[in-house]
This record gives sequence, structure tokens and C-alpha cells, in this order.
Amino acid sequence: MQSTPAGRTLDVEDLTVRYGQALAVDGVTLAIEPGEVVALLGPSGCGKTTLLRVIAGFVRQAAGRVRVDGATIDHLPANQRNIGIVFQNYALFPHMTVAENVAYGLRARGVRGSEVQARISRFLDVVQLGGFRERLPRQLSGGQQQRVALARALAVEPSILLLDEPFAALDRNLRLDMQIEVKRLQRTLGLTTILVTHDQDEAMSVADRIAVMNKGQVEQFDTPVAIYDRPQTLFVNGFIGTTNLMNGKVAALRNGTATVALDAGASLSLSAPAGIGVGAPVLISVRPEQLALSSVPGPDAWKIVPGLSLPIGAQLVHEARTADGASLKIVEPRRTTPSDSARIYCTLAADARPTLFPRST
Ligand SMILES: Nc1ncnc2c1ncn2[C@@H]1O[C@H](COP(=O)(O)OP(=O)(O)O)[C@@H](O)[C@H]1O
Ligand SMILES: [Mg+2]
Repeated sequence: MQSTPAGRTLDVEDLTVRYGQALAVDGVTLAIEPGEVVALLGPSGCGKTTLLRVIAGFVRQAAGRVRVDGATIDHLPANQRNIGIVFQNYALFPHMTVAENVAYGLRARGVRGSEVQARISRFLDVVQLGGFRERLPRQLSGGQQQRVALARALAVEPSILLLDEPFAALDRNLRLDMQIEVKRLQRTLGLTTILVTHDQDEAMSVADRIAVMNKGQVEQFDTPVAIYDRPQTLFVNGFIGTTNLMNGKVAALRNGTATVALDAGASLSLSAPAGIGVGAPVLISVRPEQLALSSVPGPDAWKIVPGLSLPIGAQLVHEARTADGASLKIVEPRRTTPSDSARIYCTLAADARPTLFPRST
């Protein structure tokens, strides 16, 4: 999180949007800090674009408010909100040069003369396309075209920048370049930014905080690390990163710690969520890097049938199956290669932070 004079606060308060009978956005509240980059992350159809369009003024909400620096903007038409937006496939005007494309929104807002030229130069420099003023869009790569679209959105000097999956059509390397670009922009301009994405890596690498959306609702709004390490719901848990799920039952509860009997045949002490009781069926979620293979039996080790071991870069990914039929992935650094045939037990790694979720039966 970073605060600069350019950054505005953006508050979305209890926002609900309907298309006919269908709820597209369902009571979303987000308090975004000045200069913060927030990623809206969620599967297709969860309401990300709709939320962005309400903020930009293209879609009217059924209930709730949007505030910039504390003042509601809901009564303002889109062109008076001073919000820059870049769409996923925002085609540039093909017959206009790069400079003309960047100037387009300026003229529409009554900016004239040398000020137009100054802003074209400034914002093409910002996206590092200073030498491309006279090119036509077809003479640019996909990544360069998206940078022009970004310069066009920035040239009107918006108070808020909205990016709707702007890099989804780009290949992997270009996407990385653009992600760095957005990060750099945010450092230099301090612009409060919302980036819509369905790509968790993009959200994790670019955003100060991530709002994970599901079915029109925000299920968690937190830092990337907190979302990864302490997912609040099973949906967030499953959507971010790779995880293993195992069935168990709460055998005992003491001072916020649950002793869980795994169906796979071991007993684990885990931090218990509020409202869970003895006997409750639970799901334990643990990341592949937080599991370890072992050749030593014990109360906190459960038997597995080892499967394939795949070298992936600097890591070894082991597949295994538990006695109750759950399939596990276990990741280890690819340093030593002890004989896997002896390692028929699985345990929690030393620093493991498994998450406990109530399981509805
Ligand atoms: N103009 C529209 N009319 C009717 N339904 C729409 C319209 N736009 C989006 N929807 C529906 O609203 C829901 C949310 O859509 P959207 O905001 O585009 O999701 P996302 O951007 O997360 O993929 C979806 O079920 C979608 O089908
Ligand atoms: Mg969308």
C-alpha cells in the first residue's frame, strides 16, 4: 500500500446489481486506499466486469454507493467521473496514429493545443513508447497496442484507473511485461487502480490486496500472502494455489486447538475455526509444499501409496494416495533423492499451516 497525492480513496458500499431477475453483484463492500492496486479475482461470470462498469458509470446499481475521496459519484454520468478504463480487447482506432489515439479522450474533454501535445508526450513516455507517435496500430505488437490503450486511459489524468483483464489476450512474456508496467506506473503516478483478472498469478504479483469474488460476492479481501496462507472460505482456498483436501473429524477441542482424526489414519493438532464442535466433520486443506514424505510411522503420520514423482524445475512433485482414497500432491526441493519405496508415510512439514473448514454432510 502506498500513498501519494495523486491517489484517491475508492469506497464501494454494499453494492448490488441486477440484470432482470439475476443478481450479478450481491452486496459488495470494498474500501480501497489511495494509490493502492486492488485485484478483483474470480471465475468467469462472478461479476467482476459488472462491478467495474458500475464504478465507471456504464451500469446503474440496484442498491449501494460508490465514493471517491468520500463523495458519492453515483449521480455523475460516465464522462464526468474522471475514471480511466482499459478493456480486455480495447481496439485502438485503426486509422489513427498512436498520438491521435492517445489524444482522443483529451479533445472530447475540451483539452486543446499545446496541452494536448504535452500530454501525448508525457504519457507515451510513461508507457515507454515515446518513439512510436506516428505509427499506426497495425504497426505495433499486441503488447505495444495495450500500452497505447493504457496511455490513452492515463492521458485524461483520471483519479482512478480501472483495468478489465487488459492482458488476457497477450502471451505469457508480454503479460509479464505489462504487469511490471502497471506496477511501475503505480509507483510513479500513485494512481488508485483496480485490475480485474481471472489469473491468480497476475493478482498475486501485481496487487497490494486481492478481492476474491464468487457468485457476485467478495469472499475475502486481503493481501496476497494472507489470501494464500489464511483462506477464509473453501472457495478461496480452492481458487488460490494448489491444495490437498483430506477428510477428518474433530476428536477433541482445547483452547482453540482441535485434535483432528484424519480418515486417512492419523491425528493432527490444528488451529480450530470459531463455531466448530467435537464430533464435527471437517476438511483439512494443506498445500503440497507443507506435506512431507517419511519412512517413520507415528501418531501424526498417515500411510500412503506413493505414485509418480515428477521433477518440475527445482522441485519434485510426488503423487500419493491415502488409505481412505484421497489423492495427495507433495512437493519437495529436488536436492536429495532418498528411496521413495521406503517413504510410505506422509506428515505435515515443520512449518505447515493447514486450514480447517467445517464440512457439510
Ligand atoms: N448486459 C448483461 N445482461 C444480462 N446479464 C449480464 C449482462 N452482463 C453480464 N451479465 C451476467 O452477469 C453475471 C456477471 O457477469 P460479469 O460481470 O461479466 O462477470 P465477469 O466479468 O466476472 O466474468 C454473469 O452471470 C453474466 O452472464
Ligand atoms: Mg469480465
